[in-house]
Amino acid sequence: MDNERRMPVHVAIIMDGNGRWAKKRGLPRTAGHAQGARVVEQILEDADHMGIRYLTVYAFSTENWSRPDSEVRSLMNLLRTYMKTSLAKCAKNNVRIRVIGDKSRLDEDLQVSIANLERDTAHNTGIGFQIAINYGSRDEIVRSVRALAKNVRKGLIEPDEINENMITNNLDTGGIPEPDLLIRTGGEQRISNFLLWQTAYAELYFCDTAWPDFSKKDLEKAVEAFNSRERRYGGLIS
Ligand code: FPP
Repeated sequence: MDNERRMPVHVAIIMDGNGRWAKKRGLPRTAGHAQGARVVEQILEDADHMGIRYLTVYAFSTENWSRPDSEVRSLMNLLRTYMKTSLAKCAKNNVRIRVIGDKSRLDEDLQVSIANLERDTAHNTGIGFQIAINYGSRDEIVRSVRALAKNVRKGLIEPDEINENMITNNLDTGGIPEPDLLIRTGGEQRISNFLLWQTAYAELYFCDTAWPDFSKKDLEKAVEAFNSRERRYGGLIS
């Protein structure tokens, strides 16, 4: 039995099940999101301690705007608070933050907090933490292709020179290695427009645990499954 465990370099998570977690306890859905936000902070620390180098979480999708106003406001407020309070923690833990998604639709003050946090953590050398806000993978690909089209119009590149690397580098995740493990909590088995291009070769792991109950043990189980599949399909254990 191989006792060497290979750690995925980049883990991406679709944090589902907040609403059902709250409902089961007779709480408003927003209480599920609030608990979910606490779990995000804990899992970021756990992932870091386990040696994972990048963690990307799906906090708010382009489709989430269609939820009731009060829920959208509550999610935005959670993110707002996170952006304002996490700097000290990030500095202490050497975390580098990047927000992916179309930030232009977010409230001005949130955009400013995000820009500040990204700037102030840019030189940290520990775990890279990507938070997807107003994120949709198809939208991200469209924005990448548009950026390339503009370069074609300026005469900087020829259409036939466009290749996969150029599209990859112009995504919001440009410069970050693609996820090798994608986890979805909450029992559904869908990708929901998350990192479609980047997860072309990722292992997919679905679990029934609702996100607010997700713990380091669950993350370790996912990494174990990732390892056993690597062995099964003849991947190299480094
Ligand atoms: C899906 O659960 C979850 C979301 C739409 C939001 C996830 C956001 C957080 C956990 C907060 C993020 C905070 C930080 C600090 C990054 P759902 O509401 O769809 O659950 P359900 O399927 O049970 O209804």
